[in-house]
Amino acid sequence: MKILFFGDIDGKIGRRAVAEVLPIWKKEYSPDIIIANADNVTHGKSINKKHFEFFKDLGVDIFTAGDHTLERKETLELLEDKSFSILRPANFSGKEPGEGVRVFEISQKKLLVVSLLGRVFIDKELNSPFEIVDKILNKYSLEDFDAIFIDFHAEATSEKSALAWYVDGRVSAIVGTHTHVQTADERILPKGTAAITDVGFCGASDSVIGLDKEMIIEHFLTDKGFKMNIPESGPVQVNAVLIEINNKKAKKIIRLAKHINIL
Ligand SMILES: [Fe+2]
Ligand SMILES: [Fe+2]
Repeated sequence: MKILFFGDIDGKIGRRAVAEVLPIWKKEYSPDIIIANADNVTHGKSINKKHFEFFKDLGVDIFTAGDHTLERKETLELLEDKSFSILRPANFSGKEPGEGVRVFEISQKKLLVVSLLGRVFIDKELNSPFEIVDKILNKYSLEDFDAIFIDFHAEATSEKSALAWYVDGRVSAIVGTHTHVQTADERILPKGTAAITDVGFCGASDSVIGLDKEMIIEHFLTDKGFKMNIPESGPVQVNAVLIEINNKKAKKIIRLAKHINIL
């Protein structure tokens, strides 16, 4: 089976770029399941119903979460409704709406998807992703699925690398998101888990990780706060990975990156 996964889709420019690139990659790679990270879809924060439906129509089956998932009121209702396949991080305290781990049956494949949030440099009340992943993998076994897929949304390379080694052989793939910069360390770990530290994002290239670059420079010069100002046109990158899984183990992981111009 093949999973196509898009890193953080960031704002309108990111949505428009993915809408252009997704049909091309769908035709080229024939993925069985398409997953995308929903951290920044709607004006940089989480995802609303309209944008969920926009991507559902394009073929995205499941959305994983990030640090902004609970910051949009509208998303909270979507997390509660299972007809919207949007996860929140599994290692939030547990009182939040929705769930961070869910079983999906898509294209005649049984898949477990887990969304986790890192704790290093992320200022939120979170349980340890290491302890939570153990709880999840004690409850669900790879034996019972065609694949187990984890999106670990985290800032630190070290935390992402450590968790990948920790779950090697227990899941089919673990991908990193959140930094918005694609790393060139994709590999199959010795026990058959595909891993990459960060898939990269889908958003404005002439920016600071998706946001207006002048505003962010000003922020660093003056320590003033900043808004979610996202460029609306210009060069855009669409970053993703394609993972091939056979008999529950990853056989191949390739990085995909397309650069286009949005007018
Ligand atoms: Fe994030
Ligand atoms: Fe993000």
